[in-house]
Amino acid sequence: MHIFNTVSEMQQWSLKERKAGKCIGLVPTMGYLHDGHMSLVENAFKHCDDVIVSIFVNPIQFCQGEDFEDYPRDLNRDCMLLEEAGVNAVFAPSIQEMYPNGYSTTVEVSGEITQKLCGRSRPGHFKGVTTVCSKLFHICLPDKAFFGQKDAQQLLVIKKMVRELNFPIEIVGVPIVREKDGLALSSRNVYLDNEQRQQALVLNRALKQAQEAIRNGERNPNRLKDNIIQLITTSPQAEIDYVEVLNGEDLTGLETLSGKVIIALAVKIGKTRLIDNLLVEV
Ligand code: PAJ
Repeated sequence: MHIFNTVSEMQQWSLKERKAGKCIGLVPTMGYLHDGHMSLVENAFKHCDDVIVSIFVNPIQFCQGEDFEDYPRDLNRDCMLLEEAGVNAVFAPSIQEMYPNGYSTTVEVSGEITQKLCGRSRPGHFKGVTTVCSKLFHICLPDKAFFGQKDAQQLLVIKKMVRELNFPIEIVGVPIVREKDGLALSSRNVYLDNEQRQQALVLNRALKQAQEAIRNGERNPNRLKDNIIQLITTSPQAEIDYVEVLNGEDLTGLETLSGKVIIALAVKIGKTRLIDNLLVEV
């Protein structure tokens, strides 16, 4: 497995592979890999000849006061896992390599899609994500790039950017991987102590309760939202950031549930902010 730290080495390798007719899949990550990331890698191998995984904790997508410094990192372990999975190349640049002194170019998807949900609580976050992903796309030159449904808004924002900026890349969404007890895998789960880990289950429980209500005929988004809020509030350490029931294609509001609907949650358990969501076809 190649491990590239510079833009030029990565780009040269991808150019060579493309010339040889290989279909390249890219899995962008911030490392500290878990089975959610590995499921993106598996999916990439189903669709592509070569798989590149990028590992870069992208400073510009963290807001002030967020966990950029503390974000868990373990590059050696990550590379071992990726090597075992048969990944062809890892791109792990330094901050200086990605944003050299004087760097000042950004890519931003504006409008409602980046202003609500995580965009409201984390101003500038999606601009950081679209900027780094644009760079990763130009550096790694993939035919397809794989993103988790876990970050549903990120997936939609990236799809919109790729469509509107005409990147010749197919964006593939991959379902959420969960622990047996329902907690969505996340690199940030390591921040939770035992008690908080238990309380974190309320996110998935709330989504399941909402799914059941929809199955039983509930079509009112506000009532659905209120019931979710009520359930989450029973967890003493849970502090709701948002609970939203929206159109699952473009995140616009809904008067009544129909078509593709997303129920999206962000909840702080102690100091740890967790997100989860459920897509339902109504
Ligand atoms: P990171 O949080 O490391 O996630 C990398 C990818 O793994 C994202 O596409 C995310 O949706 C996916 N993922 C995380 N947990 C998952 C789970 N439980 N099931 C399925 N997929 C999961 O998202 C980022 O990094 C960054 O914003 C990035 C896109 C790399 C840009 O910096």
